[in-house]
Order: sequence, then C-alpha cells, then structure tokens
Amino acid sequence: MITLALSKGRIFEETMPLLAAAGIEVTEDPEKSRKLILATTNPDVRVVLVRASDVPTYVQYGGADLGVTGLDVLLEHGNQGLYQPLDLRIAACRLSVAVRADYDYATAVRQGSRLKVATKYVGLARDFFATKGVHVDLIKLYGSMELAPLTGLADAIVDLVSTGNTLKANHLVEVERIMDISARLVINQAALKLKREPIRRIVEAFESAIPSVAAQ
Ligand code: ATP
Ligand code: PRP
Repeated sequence: MITLALSKGRIFEETMPLLAAAGIEVTEDPEKSRKLILATTNPDVRVVLVRASDVPTYVQYGGADLGVTGLDVLLEHGNQGLYQPLDLRIAACRLSVAVRADYDYATAVRQGSRLKVATKYVGLARDFFATKGVHVDLIKLYGSMELAPLTGLADAIVDLVSTGNTLKANHLVEVERIMDISARLVINQAALKLKREPIRRIVEAFESAIPSVAAQ
C-alpha cells in the first residue's frame, strides 16, 4: 500500500490532475466527507488528509510514504529525512514582507529601527531579516497575518501573496519579495527503498503532468 499525504483545499485540488496522470482518482470528495483516509481507484494507493503544516511530519516519520507540501511549509519544517524530487509548480505564490500603506518601511530599515514582524513563518523570517541585517522582534501567529499591522500588533508581516487581493483589501503593500513558492513532492527515504517501483511510477506520472511554465 502506498499512502499519499495531502491537505484539503488548494493542495488537494491541484494535485488531482497529477494523480489522474498516474491513472489514480480519489473516490470521495474531502469537502463532503468527514473521512481522513480516502480510497482511490487504485486499491494499492490511499490518500490521508492532514493539516498543510503536518504533511512534512507525516512523511518524515513514515505516517505517509509521499506527500505534497508548499515550499514555505517544507523550509519552515526543515527537510530532514525527506527526499524532494519534484517541484510540482502548483499552488504557486510568493513569500513577501508587507506593511500598512502609510508605513515608511524603507526609512525604518535605513535608520536601523527595530521592527515588530508578525508571521506564521518565524524561521524563514528570522533568516531573511538576519541576512539583511535588520533587527526584528518576531511575533508568531497561526493565521490572518494581515490583521497584525492594522491593529498595531506589528509593523510588518511575512506572509504568502498570490494575486495581492488580500493585501489590497486590507490596505497593505508588498515591500519585499523573499522567495517564490510552489508545492513540492516529498518522499519518505525508507519508503523510497522499500517501495521503489510503485513510487517510481507515481513520480514519473507526476513529472509528466507538471504544468508547463508557459501555462502558469
Ligand atoms: P493550515 O491549515 O495548516 O493553516 P493553510 O491554511 O496555509 O494551512 P492552504 O491555504 O491550503 O493551507 O495552503 C497550502 C499551501 O498552498 C501553502 O503552504 C502555500 O504553499 C500554498 N498557498 C497558500 N496560499 C496560496 C495562495 N493564495 N495562492 C497559491 N498558493 C497558496
Ligand atoms: C493565503 C495567504 C494570504 C492569501 C494571499 O491565505 O495567507 O492571506 O492566501 O492570496 P492573494 O494574494 O491571492 O490574496 P489563504 O487563502 O490560503 O487563507 P488561509 O491561509 O487563511 O487558509
């Protein structure tokens, strides 16, 4: 049996065409079912539904053989014990710094001010500001980062941006682009050895179905 860890929402939806290329269809709709283990049309493949931030943990410790996870989650987790063969080019976005439209970020940085930064990505934010030589107090949040500068909790946020609509709707502006993000296929290293053939077939099918750069 091959177990694939996915999170509900965009990762699940955007992985479906890749699974289809491997001749695999999930037989239940995760939005309509409370089940956490979903069967597929291939009796040897099942999908487990986990929180997006738990995918690397499941794969690292063998709760799943493979998983699909954002590069943001993967880098924040650390990729110990995970083989990462493919950039799937799905769930594409970027990790950025944003501030209130009326906050003068450039001057604050130039003057060496200490910035309060709210984020779910404490590790990535710490590394980014350390490289820039900017002193920061990091405030860990689990969601709705955009609210932090609006309420005075923070001067800036480090969050994901795609269309920019969420920033715009909250009168925030992107002031730094930290890195491009997309979803990655990750594989448990022991599973790679023990289940080499079925995993190779899935990897090859995924690879053949990765959206082309031009189509994005
Ligand atoms: P959790 O449930 O653990 O809080 P989450 O709500 O961040 O996770 P999703 O919103 O489904 O989970 O995001 C999963 C992944 O999709 C992210 O890790 C990121 O790589 C990518 N992603 C997040 N937001 C966007 C977006 N607006 N556009 C494209 N990709 C995104
Ligand atoms: C993500 C991210 C931003 C938003 C950016 O949130 O945390 O809030 O998308 O996308 P945009 O630039 O296209 O507006 P998501 O929609 O995943 O909500 P959630 O993290 O609260 O699930």
